[in-house]
Amino acid sequence: MDNLLKELEALKIRIDFFEDNSSWTPCIDLIQKSFVPQRTVGVERPCEEKDFREYRLVVERNLHNVRSMLQHISNSSREKHFQLSNATGIVRTFGMNLLLLIGEHSEKNIWNTAECVSISKELLASFCDLYVCQSISQFLSENENLRNLLLILRPKLLKDTWKTYPSAVACYRWFLQEAELDLIQFINILLIHMTYTYLYIHIHIFTYILIKNISLIKKIMITIKKKILNSSLYTVMNFSYICILIYYILYIYILNIYSLNKYWTTRDEVLSTLIENMEFEQNIELRHVYMLSLPQLITNIGCAKWCGALIRILTEYCEHHTDLRTLKATLEMAKMFLLMFRLRIAAHCAPLYTVFLKLHFDLTETPVFDRAIMQNLEDCICMLYQLSPNVGYTVINDDRMRSVLNSSLPVVCQGGIIRIPIGGSYWMLLWGNYKFPYLTIDYYVKKLKSKIISCYMGDNFTIIVNDYKSIKEVLSREEFDGRVITAHIKDRAFGKELGIFFIEGPQWQEQRRFTLRHMRDFGFGRRQDKLESEIMDEMTLFLDILKNGPIYDGEKEILKGNLAFFPDIMYASAANNIWNVMFGRRFDRSEHDIPRRLCRMALLFQRANDTIGGAISQRSIFRYFGNMFGYTNHIKGSSTVSNIIKKYLDYQKTIISENDDQGFVDRYLKKLDGDDKLNNFTEEQLIILLTDVMFPAFSAIPIMITHVIKYLMHHPRVMEKVQNEIDNVVGTGRLATWDDRKNLPYLEATIRETMRIETLTPLSVTHKCLKKTTLGGYEIPVNTSIFTNLAAIHHDPDLWGDPKIFRPERFLKEDGQLAKDFTLPFGFGRRLCAGETYARYNMFETVVLLVQNFNFFFIEGEPSSLENKLPGLIVSPKELWIRLESR
Ligand code: HEM
Repeated sequence: MDNLLKELEALKIRIDFFEDNSSWTPCIDLIQKSFVPQRTVGVERPCEEKDFREYRLVVERNLHNVRSMLQHISNSSREKHFQLSNATGIVRTFGMNLLLLIGEHSEKNIWNTAECVSISKELLASFCDLYVCQSISQFLSENENLRNLLLILRPKLLKDTWKTYPSAVACYRWFLQEAELDLIQFINILLIHMTYTYLYIHIHIFTYILIKNISLIKKIMITIKKKILNSSLYTVMNFSYICILIYYILYIYILNIYSLNKYWTTRDEVLSTLIENMEFEQNIELRHVYMLSLPQLITNIGCAKWCGALIRILTEYCEHHTDLRTLKATLEMAKMFLLMFRLRIAAHCAPLYTVFLKLHFDLTETPVFDRAIMQNLEDCICMLYQLSPNVGYTVINDDRMRSVLNSSLPVVCQGGIIRIPIGGSYWMLLWGNYKFPYLTIDYYVKKLKSKIISCYMGDNFTIIVNDYKSIKEVLSREEFDGRVITAHIKDRAFGKELGIFFIEGPQWQEQRRFTLRHMRDFGFGRRQDKLESEIMDEMTLFLDILKNGPIYDGEKEILKGNLAFFPDIMYASAANNIWNVMFGRRFDRSEHDIPRRLCRMALLFQRANDTIGGAISQRSIFRYFGNMFGYTNHIKGSSTVSNIIKKYLDYQKTIISENDDQGFVDRYLKKLDGDDKLNNFTEEQLIILLTDVMFPAFSAIPIMITHVIKYLMHHPRVMEKVQNEIDNVVGTGRLATWDDRKNLPYLEATIRETMRIETLTPLSVTHKCLKKTTLGGYEIPVNTSIFTNLAAIHHDPDLWGDPKIFRPERFLKEDGQLAKDFTLPFGFGRRLCAGETYARYNMFETVVLLVQNFNFFFIEGEPSSLENKLPGLIVSPKELWIRLESR
């Protein structure tokens, strides 16, 4: 005893603990000095290796001292009949610190010697003795002792600090183990008291707890979501901690349970609850945690019965992805899942495939994203692609594909655009941009690093040509002059190959030559006073209607006060002008409902189709789905026009006399009657030919003018310049003539710029390769479809510098005159738009008339944005009301 007192004196610990509270201070100091210090950076032990021996001696000596001190306190308390368990204030603080010290030294590790552990055990015994408790667990369960201990430990267990206090972690673990909590209590403790503690460390603790409480897991899993979401904690807690917690529950659960066969049944029930929770989980944080846990889950489940559910989860998480963290975890998980369950999921792969493709395109539009995300996504798509028996079979057995592969064409060897069942690459383009699928092509051009890329549209091997040089080459070479003629195209032409757009070979050459040759005589494609003056008449009437208001009911629908409905307002004149070339007559103002109907039906047809072909082009079976894929409108639009044409044609046949030569129809009818009639000249051919040639005049011209007006309205500076130019050159009081055109370069540049930026037929009309050939070094098999991507060259930064900017000046030289035009809105070569000159003239006349006479104002609620467009064979602005004010 004397020795002990001496020792304590040396430590400045007095013996009158229970009289003077200040005696406890040096005791607490001594304990705190014995805590394991913070680990220095890069060192495993609490100090540098060279100092460790000395450190150990100090700690051991300290612990010896603490033991002596405790012995002394124990003796004193016994003498004075003082119960520490009831103490408050500093005495209580002493107890807490002592317990923390015991906890820190409770296990042997690289900084804790066996001697320390043994002393710690002795200290624990003394502690229980002093605090009159059977076991430490009893102490922890009383008076919120555990809570208070955890609160003291908390600063050492934060996210930034826990790694440097490994002994605090050990202490924490020791408390939780000793506390003998069941899992629910345990989680409650964590949720309530440890909110801000870094829960990473719980992994060790869970192992222990879960093995002990396996039967509770199911209950926990079912209730945890409710618990968290309903609890008021939800609002106050840092949610991510709860998530990490859940993650570890799952993680350890799977790890441990796997070895405990007797819990198999429970496990399955738990998993199904878990999976159900995952599937319907909306919280982003929880989704993230679930996804982190899933790989662990599926490595262990090893059975296929979860495949369907997991696919649903992956599909859901990809489809409604919100944050990149979760998406990244989801795609890692998806890749692993596909690798493991490839064959089993073949049957369910379609939804997953679909969602991956959609995601792929969503991501390409996201400027910043993780490369790993894209890589995993593409791996997944490829795996599914290989997996699908349909696709795999077709690829291997497709002669064209094999021949191209054999020729080692980079364009195909790189894969081209991924091909999937039924629609081929069409779905990919669609997923990239559902409304304007052709816009997706740009992504593939960049991805495949080739201006010529391949794909399959349905079963058709297709080449998409995207640069100026190659497009010009395609359009110049005869072997690319073919057309893709599908069932739905023939459906609008008496089931035959008729007209001009969709015929090829000698039949096309003959019809095109005859048509253009004879239409020319009626002013089509060249200067002709008669036609020009009749067009002027139409323009004068058009202006009169605009200025003096509507008379007929049909006019009243599209002109209300100074509000005009575009493009419908232009339909009557547009249709009348081309009708005049064909039939040699125009509809009277009282009959304008007919030309308006023709134009509306033509636009209906244009919009029912798509520049990349549309679904009906890929599979003719889609014709039997009503209007789902646009078939009804395709037929309605086309046949309404051809029926009206047929009606007037029948009439024309009855009145035509030998001397009549009013229009192209007269010439053709005579040809039909003539001795030199060739096989391809039939009445049916004439009807479809007229339909084909007039269609674009009915729709493309008014649509393009609407684009021009909208662009001018959105660019008032350009509008002002155009109006000034017209005022200077044409003035007011007269219509512009074709001769004025050369003096209106800014107007012409504006029309060109609109046709560039708003390429009316983005992929032109599909061409077809008529014999095996090569293009840009690539072998092109016969019958390959070819898209000439006119929109791509019109938006090529190498050609235009700032293609997204509307800047008519780019078409002008420094002296203000027109520069060479590198746009190809009408195509090029033998298949060049037959109506280019005619269209340019009509657009010029109408635009001048409108901007010369009116100022334009958008009306609220109308689709006035430049983005308010609809897809189709031509890209058209949505119909809209515009307020016109006379200038
Ligand atoms: C702004 C208006 C127009 C644009 C942008 C336009 C554009 C085009 C394009 C890109 C082609 C396909 C070229 C190819 O296959 O490589 C085409 C073909 C054609 N266009 Fe136009 N067009 C317009 C107006 C017109 C008009 C007003 C007519 C007749 C009155 C017309 C008659 C034709 C015909 C008959 C063909 C088929 C040529 C063939 O296959 O041989 N187009 N047009």
